[in-house]
Amino acid sequence: MISKIYSCVVIGLNSRLVEIESDIDFGFQKISIVGLPDVSVNESKDRISSALKNSGFDLPRNKITINLAPANIHKAGTLYDLPIALSILLANGQLKKSSFDFSKSLFVGELSLNGDLRKINGILSCAIFAKENGYENLFIPEDNAKEAALVDGINIYPVFNLKQLIDHLLNKLNIESFEFDKYSYFNSIDFIDDSFNFKYIKGQNHAKRALEIAAAGAHNILFYGPPGSGKTMLARSIVTILPKMSEEEILEVSRIHSVAGLLTEKQPIIIKRPFRSPHHSGSCASIVGGGSNPKPGEISLAHRGVLFLDEFPEFSKIVLESLRQPLEDGFVTISRAVRTIEFPARFILVASANPCSCGFFGDSEKKCSCSQLQILKYKNKISGPIADRIDMHVEVPRIKFDELSDNNLSEDSVSVKNRVEVVVDIQKNRFKNSGIVNNSEMKSKHIKEFCKLDDQSLEILKSAVVGLSLSGRAYNKIIKLARTIADLDGIEDIKMNHVAEALQYRRRE
Ligand SMILES: Nc1ncnc2c1ncn2[C@@H]1O[C@H](COP(=O)(O)OP(=O)(O)O)[C@@H](O)[C@H]1O
Ligand SMILES: [Mg+2]
Repeated sequence: MISKIYSCVVIGLNSRLVEIESDIDFGFQKISIVGLPDVSVNESKDRISSALKNSGFDLPRNKITINLAPANIHKAGTLYDLPIALSILLANGQLKKSSFDFSKSLFVGELSLNGDLRKINGILSCAIFAKENGYENLFIPEDNAKEAALVDGINIYPVFNLKQLIDHLLNKLNIESFEFDKYSYFNSIDFIDDSFNFKYIKGQNHAKRALEIAAAGAHNILFYGPPGSGKTMLARSIVTILPKMSEEEILEVSRIHSVAGLLTEKQPIIIKRPFRSPHHSGSCASIVGGGSNPKPGEISLAHRGVLFLDEFPEFSKIVLESLRQPLEDGFVTISRAVRTIEFPARFILVASANPCSCGFFGDSEKKCSCSQLQILKYKNKISGPIADRIDMHVEVPRIKFDELSDNNLSEDSVSVKNRVEVVVDIQKNRFKNSGIVNNSEMKSKHIKEFCKLDDQSLEILKSAVVGLSLSGRAYNKIIKLARTIADLDGIEDIKMNHVAEALQYRRRE
């Protein structure tokens, strides 16, 4: 008898159906898996044999052929252990007495040698696939349950071990479908990490204002200034003013972390906006994404959150230049011989840099010891196209002693965050049916529709664009930034002061 069990394959962030067929035929005992399995899938044979034996089932003493269809899609990972084991038992007649309708259910999970189920990566993609394609039940490892329960409208069955699942299918016991109150979980997290609160940052009001604009409209920002002036501290403090994620954003972001295998027992869902700060020695694959079975990199893990690149010029040229496409499009395309995969990568880039290699070029107190050539070389590490994609270039100067020794606290992050949230709501209304969420994502048609400039604003914009020979991208970026600044003012039409403030954040040559 040929049996059929349904499972799915995760490719990039998406999932597709995999039919698992087993046939048992006369011959020496042997399991062969066909249908483009990779090494990890082939290894499942040994795990499955042990798991079946240790769960009290017989492995047929015949030739077993397992086909993973469609055969033209590469299958990787350990999620097929469970469905393969089930399909062997079904083909062998050990599930004969089951009245279960296998055509409405998907099964995924890795088996350990004693038959227990182990967590797998990418379960959210499987759950989304199951729902979108009308499957009613999803049987998964118990440790993946909270993650999968983020998707409504499908029964999630958390399975502890193989024996328990077989007993459920034979009606000997009942596995309850998993109920999870995700909304109370969303609200259970304390959002402000006090150690990074704005109130502890002395002075640097200009930089704090820039962070507020960046958080409100999702604009990119570069801090430059001498060592010790507070660039890293400022960048890290952005987490305390980032707006709450919407439910769709939580799903989007958690899905990426699910595929990357980063969801844990402690953090089964990503609720806070991500803040990723890879070190400058990181490889291109780790930062941008890649590998033979492509995985999301730091830029995708920072999706809908912040990618902080400290000591920006120290990143390798190839990493910096690879940021160009994602910074422009909000996703990254990874091409491999067999396929091309896209991962979302819409993040706020927060970068910090010293102005030169000694760090004191332009400092009010200390003399810079670099030559003109050294200064130029250091500056050129951030290429024109990358600099052009950064909306705000913000100087963080050395802070004066009087300010530093002042014991009064500055404005609390909570009030800054409240202002940011108001602007987020404005944007939510504005872009209701546009497929975008932030001012920074606006394309030309949105700019035309939502960014009305009066004559005076147009005039100063014109003189800046002509005088500074700004690019078309810079022109659009200034308008988008001015849109966010006007939103922070609660004003519908963009005025001259908004454009003027946006202009002052452009890079000075
Ligand atoms: N404006 C400031 N207010 C309070 N502390 C500051 C300020 N600037 C610097 N510091 C202190 O100096 C430390 C070093 O700052 P950091 O952000 O690492 O500087 P940079 O990245 O510019 O080299 C901070 O951790 C903080 O303790
Ligand atoms: Mg620093």
